[in-house]
This record gives sequence, structure tokens and C-alpha cells, in this order.
Amino acid sequence: MDASTLVNTERRMLRVMQGKPASKWQLADILKTCDWTDQAVAVGAGQGLADKKLIKVIEQSQIEVKLANQGQLAINNGLLEARLYSWYLESSDPSMSNLQQSFDKHEAGPGIGLLKKLGISMQSGKFHCDDNTNVEQQIAERSEFLNSLPCSQDEVDAELLEHFKGRRNFVELVITTTRTWEITKSGLKIVAKDLVETEVINEITPELLQSENWKNAEFRAFDVTLESATPRTGRSHPMQSLIERIRHIFLEMGFSELVEDYVQSAGWNMDALFIPQDHPAREMQDTFYLDNPKSLELPEELMETWSAIHRDGGETGSLGWGGDFSNEVSKKGLLRTHTTVNTIQHLAANPTEPCRMFTVDRVFRKEAIDRTHLPEFHQIEGIIMEEGANLQMLVTTLKTFYAKMGYPEVRVRPAYFPYTEPSLEIEVKWRGKWLELGGAGIFRPEVTEPLGIQHPVLAWGMGLERLAMLVLGLDDIRQLYISDLEWLRNQPII
Ligand code: PHE
Repeated sequence: MDASTLVNTERRMLRVMQGKPASKWQLADILKTCDWTDQAVAVGAGQGLADKKLIKVIEQSQIEVKLANQGQLAINNGLLEARLYSWYLESSDPSMSNLQQSFDKHEAGPGIGLLKKLGISMQSGKFHCDDNTNVEQQIAERSEFLNSLPCSQDEVDAELLEHFKGRRNFVELVITTTRTWEITKSGLKIVAKDLVETEVINEITPELLQSENWKNAEFRAFDVTLESATPRTGRSHPMQSLIERIRHIFLEMGFSELVEDYVQSAGWNMDALFIPQDHPAREMQDTFYLDNPKSLELPEELMETWSAIHRDGGETGSLGWGGDFSNEVSKKGLLRTHTTVNTIQHLAANPTEPCRMFTVDRVFRKEAIDRTHLPEFHQIEGIIMEEGANLQMLVTTLKTFYAKMGYPEVRVRPAYFPYTEPSLEIEVKWRGKWLELGGAGIFRPEVTEPLGIQHPVLAWGMGLERLAMLVLGLDDIRQLYISDLEWLRNQPII
């Protein structure tokens, strides 16, 4: 046995045990003789020494009989049968109705049974006892029994134990394990000089590194596989952490963040994006229109431009949608149904400056709440406007984003949006299945030309909650917002 592998606590415990080779050591003796207060230290050192066969651990289980709460009450207030018996002795008229008057219902009921078993029964309407000495003796034995607890099961009267086990909450049996340690022959052979405790360094400090002391010191080994307590500190909600992570990724990719209002006009939310005024998504069942502001002012020329584009394509060469265009419909106030409303406004304000913008923000749609839908959710929106921007660049950007999020398998499929051409659907592979996460495309001339935009605009809008479900492995979207503390605590660091 190489004693140099012993840690300090083991050295101390073995040294102490060598002092009394024949002794069976109990926890308390070890703690006292080693000058420890923490049981875990003694148990740990004992286990270490036992693993090296330097000591033997003998574990013994014992069953102890303890007082439960009714038993404790009986000690404090007297056993019910004792109180009933005194009442019987003192009462001038020990009848049933008098008993019921002198004791609470919950005592009177079981009390009658107890008296009967002790040999006190009814005779012509009154309680009657033939053998007072016997009753007194039984009561005395019972209280003596309770007063002797806690006590090892082997030492109590078996009959009385059975009696009290049959009464609710009088006694409980607790199994305790006691450990004793005995030194082995190999343990005795370890020589004293090997049991000298060395100075062990727990923590590396700048002072220590500056001095020369670390050169010959012993460092404490850490067992990283041991179970440890999880620190419970305040932390961000997983959705917030996810938003932060997405922000970092886009910032790292050279994008700037756009944060804008979610109260918008139908004009910017839809007309500017060439969504026809009779599009089903504009219906009351799909969009939250506002009572306040019911309507928002918009510049006349702007509405004229949209109107021309929608009716016949204006000067863009498009045929438009045909039919009528209503300025009143444009002015309606609503809660934005997508964050594309903000990117289009940014482009309108900065039509000639190439840019890369992103938004992670809240949108609203009149959805019934279920496992995969919420009426309030978030979109991850972005645009790239620059000379020569093309479809390949759009796909690469989205693939790079998802790869950075940890989803390297991404595919795109043809799709349709009124404001993009070509249009794409973005899908990510998760647990072997392709999941649709959002839409993308290049803005159509009907959208960009009236704003004076010269360069192609790549655009996308993706669901944040959908992505969160993948990241957190959820199958119900509602879990994200129900403030289930236990669940929140156990979420991974994102
Ligand atoms: N706005 C679309 C949606 O809400 C997503 C999208 C954005 C599609 C930009 C194309 C371009 O689903």
C-alpha cells in the first residue's frame, strides 16, 4: 500500500485509529478524536480508507421506536383511557350521556371502545368496572411504555408495541444505521511518518503564484464526477437568453438592430408590402384591429402611390391587383402582424443606404391558443440591402445563422408571399424531421420601386417560439410563458 496516495483526512483518521488498535470506532468517537465537526468528512475519510482496505466498515441497522404526535400528546395531556378512568372514578353519574358531555366528540367515540377493552362496560345505563386494580395496572404500563420512548425495538415490550401500533400516530418505527470502523492489519502497518498531514493547496491565488511556495506544495485533487448541489440563483428567462443569443449572432454577422413600435397602420403593415386589400389575412379574424387609435394619419402621396400600385402596378410595369383601393382601409390602426412592417419603414426612410438590419420582436395574430400557436409571439426578422445581393446570399446568410444556433442542416423550399419574388420557406432538420421555421425572399419591385430603392433587398421573417421549442425540446409552446418555476430552474444555460 502506497501511503502517499492518502489524503489528509484519511491520514488523520488512520493515525487516530492506530492509537487504539482493538477499538470499534463510532462516528462520535472519530469526530471527537480527529477534532472534526462535519460528519461527511469522517464518513468520506472512512470510506477512502475502507476502499484501500486499511480499515473495515461495519454497518448495523437498528429499528428504533419513537413517539409520533398522538403519543407525544398523550404524554403531555395524559392517555385518553387514563382521563376517562379518572372521570369514571370521580363522576357521581358515569352514564353515556355524561361521558359525551365531559369529552369532545372525537374523544368520546373512541373512548367508549377503549373503556370496554379495559373491562369497563355498561350495566343498566352506567359504566361499571369489576377489577379496578387490573385497569389501573394496564394504564400505568401503557404510560410507562410511552415514557420510555425513544427506545430500540428489541428492548420494548412486544405486546404493548403491538397495542400502540394499532392506535393511529402513537408510535413510529425508524430504521437507523450505525457505522463502526475497525482498523485492519494493513492499516496497522502504515508507518507514522506516512501519516503526517501535508499542506494541501485548495485554491490558486495570485499571491501563491508569485511566491515560490507552490513548487513543492501538494494540490488538492478535485473529483469532477461527484454529485454537487445545483446553485439556485436568479437567472434570465430562457426566452430572454435565447433572444440575447440571437442578437449576438446577428451583431457578429455585421447586422444592426432595429427596434420599433408594434402599433401600426394597415397601410405600412400590408399595403406597402403589396398585400392586396382583400387578402384573407387582413380579415378581423386574423388581425387585431385597434379601437384606439382606430385610424392613423398617413401622407396623401404615400396612399396615392400604394393605390396606383395596387390598382394597376403604377410605374413599376406590374399589373397590380386590379379593383378598388381604399385609403380608409390603409389608415386602420392595428397590432403589427409581422415585423416586416418595420423593415419596410426603415427602407422607406433610408432608400439609398445599403444596410443589414435585424429585429427580434413581438407580433400579434388572432390565433386560438393551442400546442403550437399563440396570439402573441416573436419574429426574427432581417434584411440585407446592397448592390448585387442575390438569392444565394440570402440562403447562405440563413444557413449561417442556423448553423451558429447549432442547427447545421437547413433547406429552403419555394413558397409564396405577396411582397417577395422569389419566395422561400426555411426548414431546419431536427430529430430527423424537417421543420418549417419561417419565410424569406427578395422584395418585389412593387414594394421597392415606389420607395426609390435601387439595390435588391433580401428579407426574412422567422418564428422565435418555434426555434425556442427546438432549443428547449418542447412539444407545447405554452410552456414558455406559464412561469412554471420548477421548469424554469431546470432549463439549460442557452
Ligand atoms: N412576414 C412573413 C411572415 O410573417 C415572413 C417573411 C418576411 C417572408 C420577409 C418573406 C420576407 O410569415
